[in-house]
Amino acid sequence: LKHKARQYEKAARAVNQAAVLGAGIMGGGIAYQSALKGTPILIKDIREEAIQQGLAEAAKLLEKRVEKGRLTPAQMAEALNGIRPTLSYGDFGQVDLVVEAVVENPKVKQAVLAEVEGTVKDDCILATNTSTISIGFLARSLKRPENFCGMHFFNPVPVMPLVEVIRGEQSSERTIATTVAFARKMGKNPIVVRDCPGFLVNRVLFPYFDGFARLLGAGIDFQRIDRVMEAFGWPMGPAYLLDVVGIDTAHHARGVLAEGFPERMKQERRTAIDALYEAGRLGQKNGKGFYRYE
Ligand code: CAA
Ligand code: NAD
Repeated sequence: LKHKARQYEKAARAVNQAAVLGAGIMGGGIAYQSALKGTPILIKDIREEAIQQGLAEAAKLLEKRVEKGRLTPAQMAEALNGIRPTLSYGDFGQVDLVVEAVVENPKVKQAVLAEVEGTVKDDCILATNTSTISIGFLARSLKRPENFCGMHFFNPVPVMPLVEVIRGEQSSERTIATTVAFARKMGKNPIVVRDCPGFLVNRVLFPYFDGFARLLGAGIDFQRIDRVMEAFGWPMGPAYLLDVVGIDTAHHARGVLAEGFPERMKQERRTAIDALYEAGRLGQKNGKGFYRYE
């Protein structure tokens, strides 16, 4: 492992300017963490409101660090200055690495990746934060698939240490090494995994959500299940975690996994998660999911 780590260090290129596409739960967290650890980052969305919300959240987290004495006000100002909001690709010509973090929809992601590829320099790395969609599938929309890989963060980005770096069939060694180094610079523990729907963690997590959905189908109250899983020692139960993840994201991600593994992920009937999704109860992001949020 040490040998591999040294190889990656050698092959990695510097990331002096990053960008993130999508200013939602994940994009906002990625921008915050990148700026906090000293890499300036552009944050692009198609909605001004999402960008403003992302910036406000970053400012709140930085203020908390100042209150706790972990950051000086000057460092806070520097980190905030490092996050540059935009609705256009105007300044993408200087970017070394882009993390795509838009909605979990294969067609939208393919279109966004092809679009951004047309605006960046030839050696810019494109990394996707997709939860489940295969890198090989997304790479089909690109002219330079060797510059593309997965960079899968976990929610909440500032706290969760793991990042899955997903090697697509065509990802170059430079792409993987630079993404690994960038994850380390962000203070994360990257692991390199092979490409398949759901990669490593979500192939474990989503069958757990399915088990939860089956218990709901058998008439057991979601709050009881959450309390039991908390008593078991986990930081939060599955209903609360689904609200944190986003019911829409979980719904789309499950769909991708079911397509990839039809036998393993067979679902006989509509679940409570489908019902919440159809009712537009998306979790914490819009104030109501399994629970209600003020
Ligand atoms: N953003 C930033 N910081 C946060 C935070 C957030 N949303 N939530 C908590 N924190 C920070 C707190 O400020 C606190 O920091 P300090 O130690 O510096 O004071 C620290 O985290 C611990 O916070 P708490 O004691 O309040 O909370 P906790 O003990 O519950 O720990 C947690 C927080 C680690 C996030 C824990 O709740 C947890 O592990 N939750 C489960 C998260 C999880 O499983 N995520 C994976 C989702 S699936 C996914 O991401 C993949 C996908 O593709 C869908
Ligand atoms: P989200 O719904 O909070 O945010 C998505 C953002 O993308 C929105 O602000 C939306 O306006 C923006 N967007 C849509 N189309 C766009 C475009 N063409 N260009 C720029 N922005 C666009 O979603 P999220 O939870 O942040 O998830 C983003 C990605 O990260 C998804 O692929 C998801 O599967 C993945 N992911 C999510 C989690 C999680 O727990 N939420 C964890 C790991 C990975």
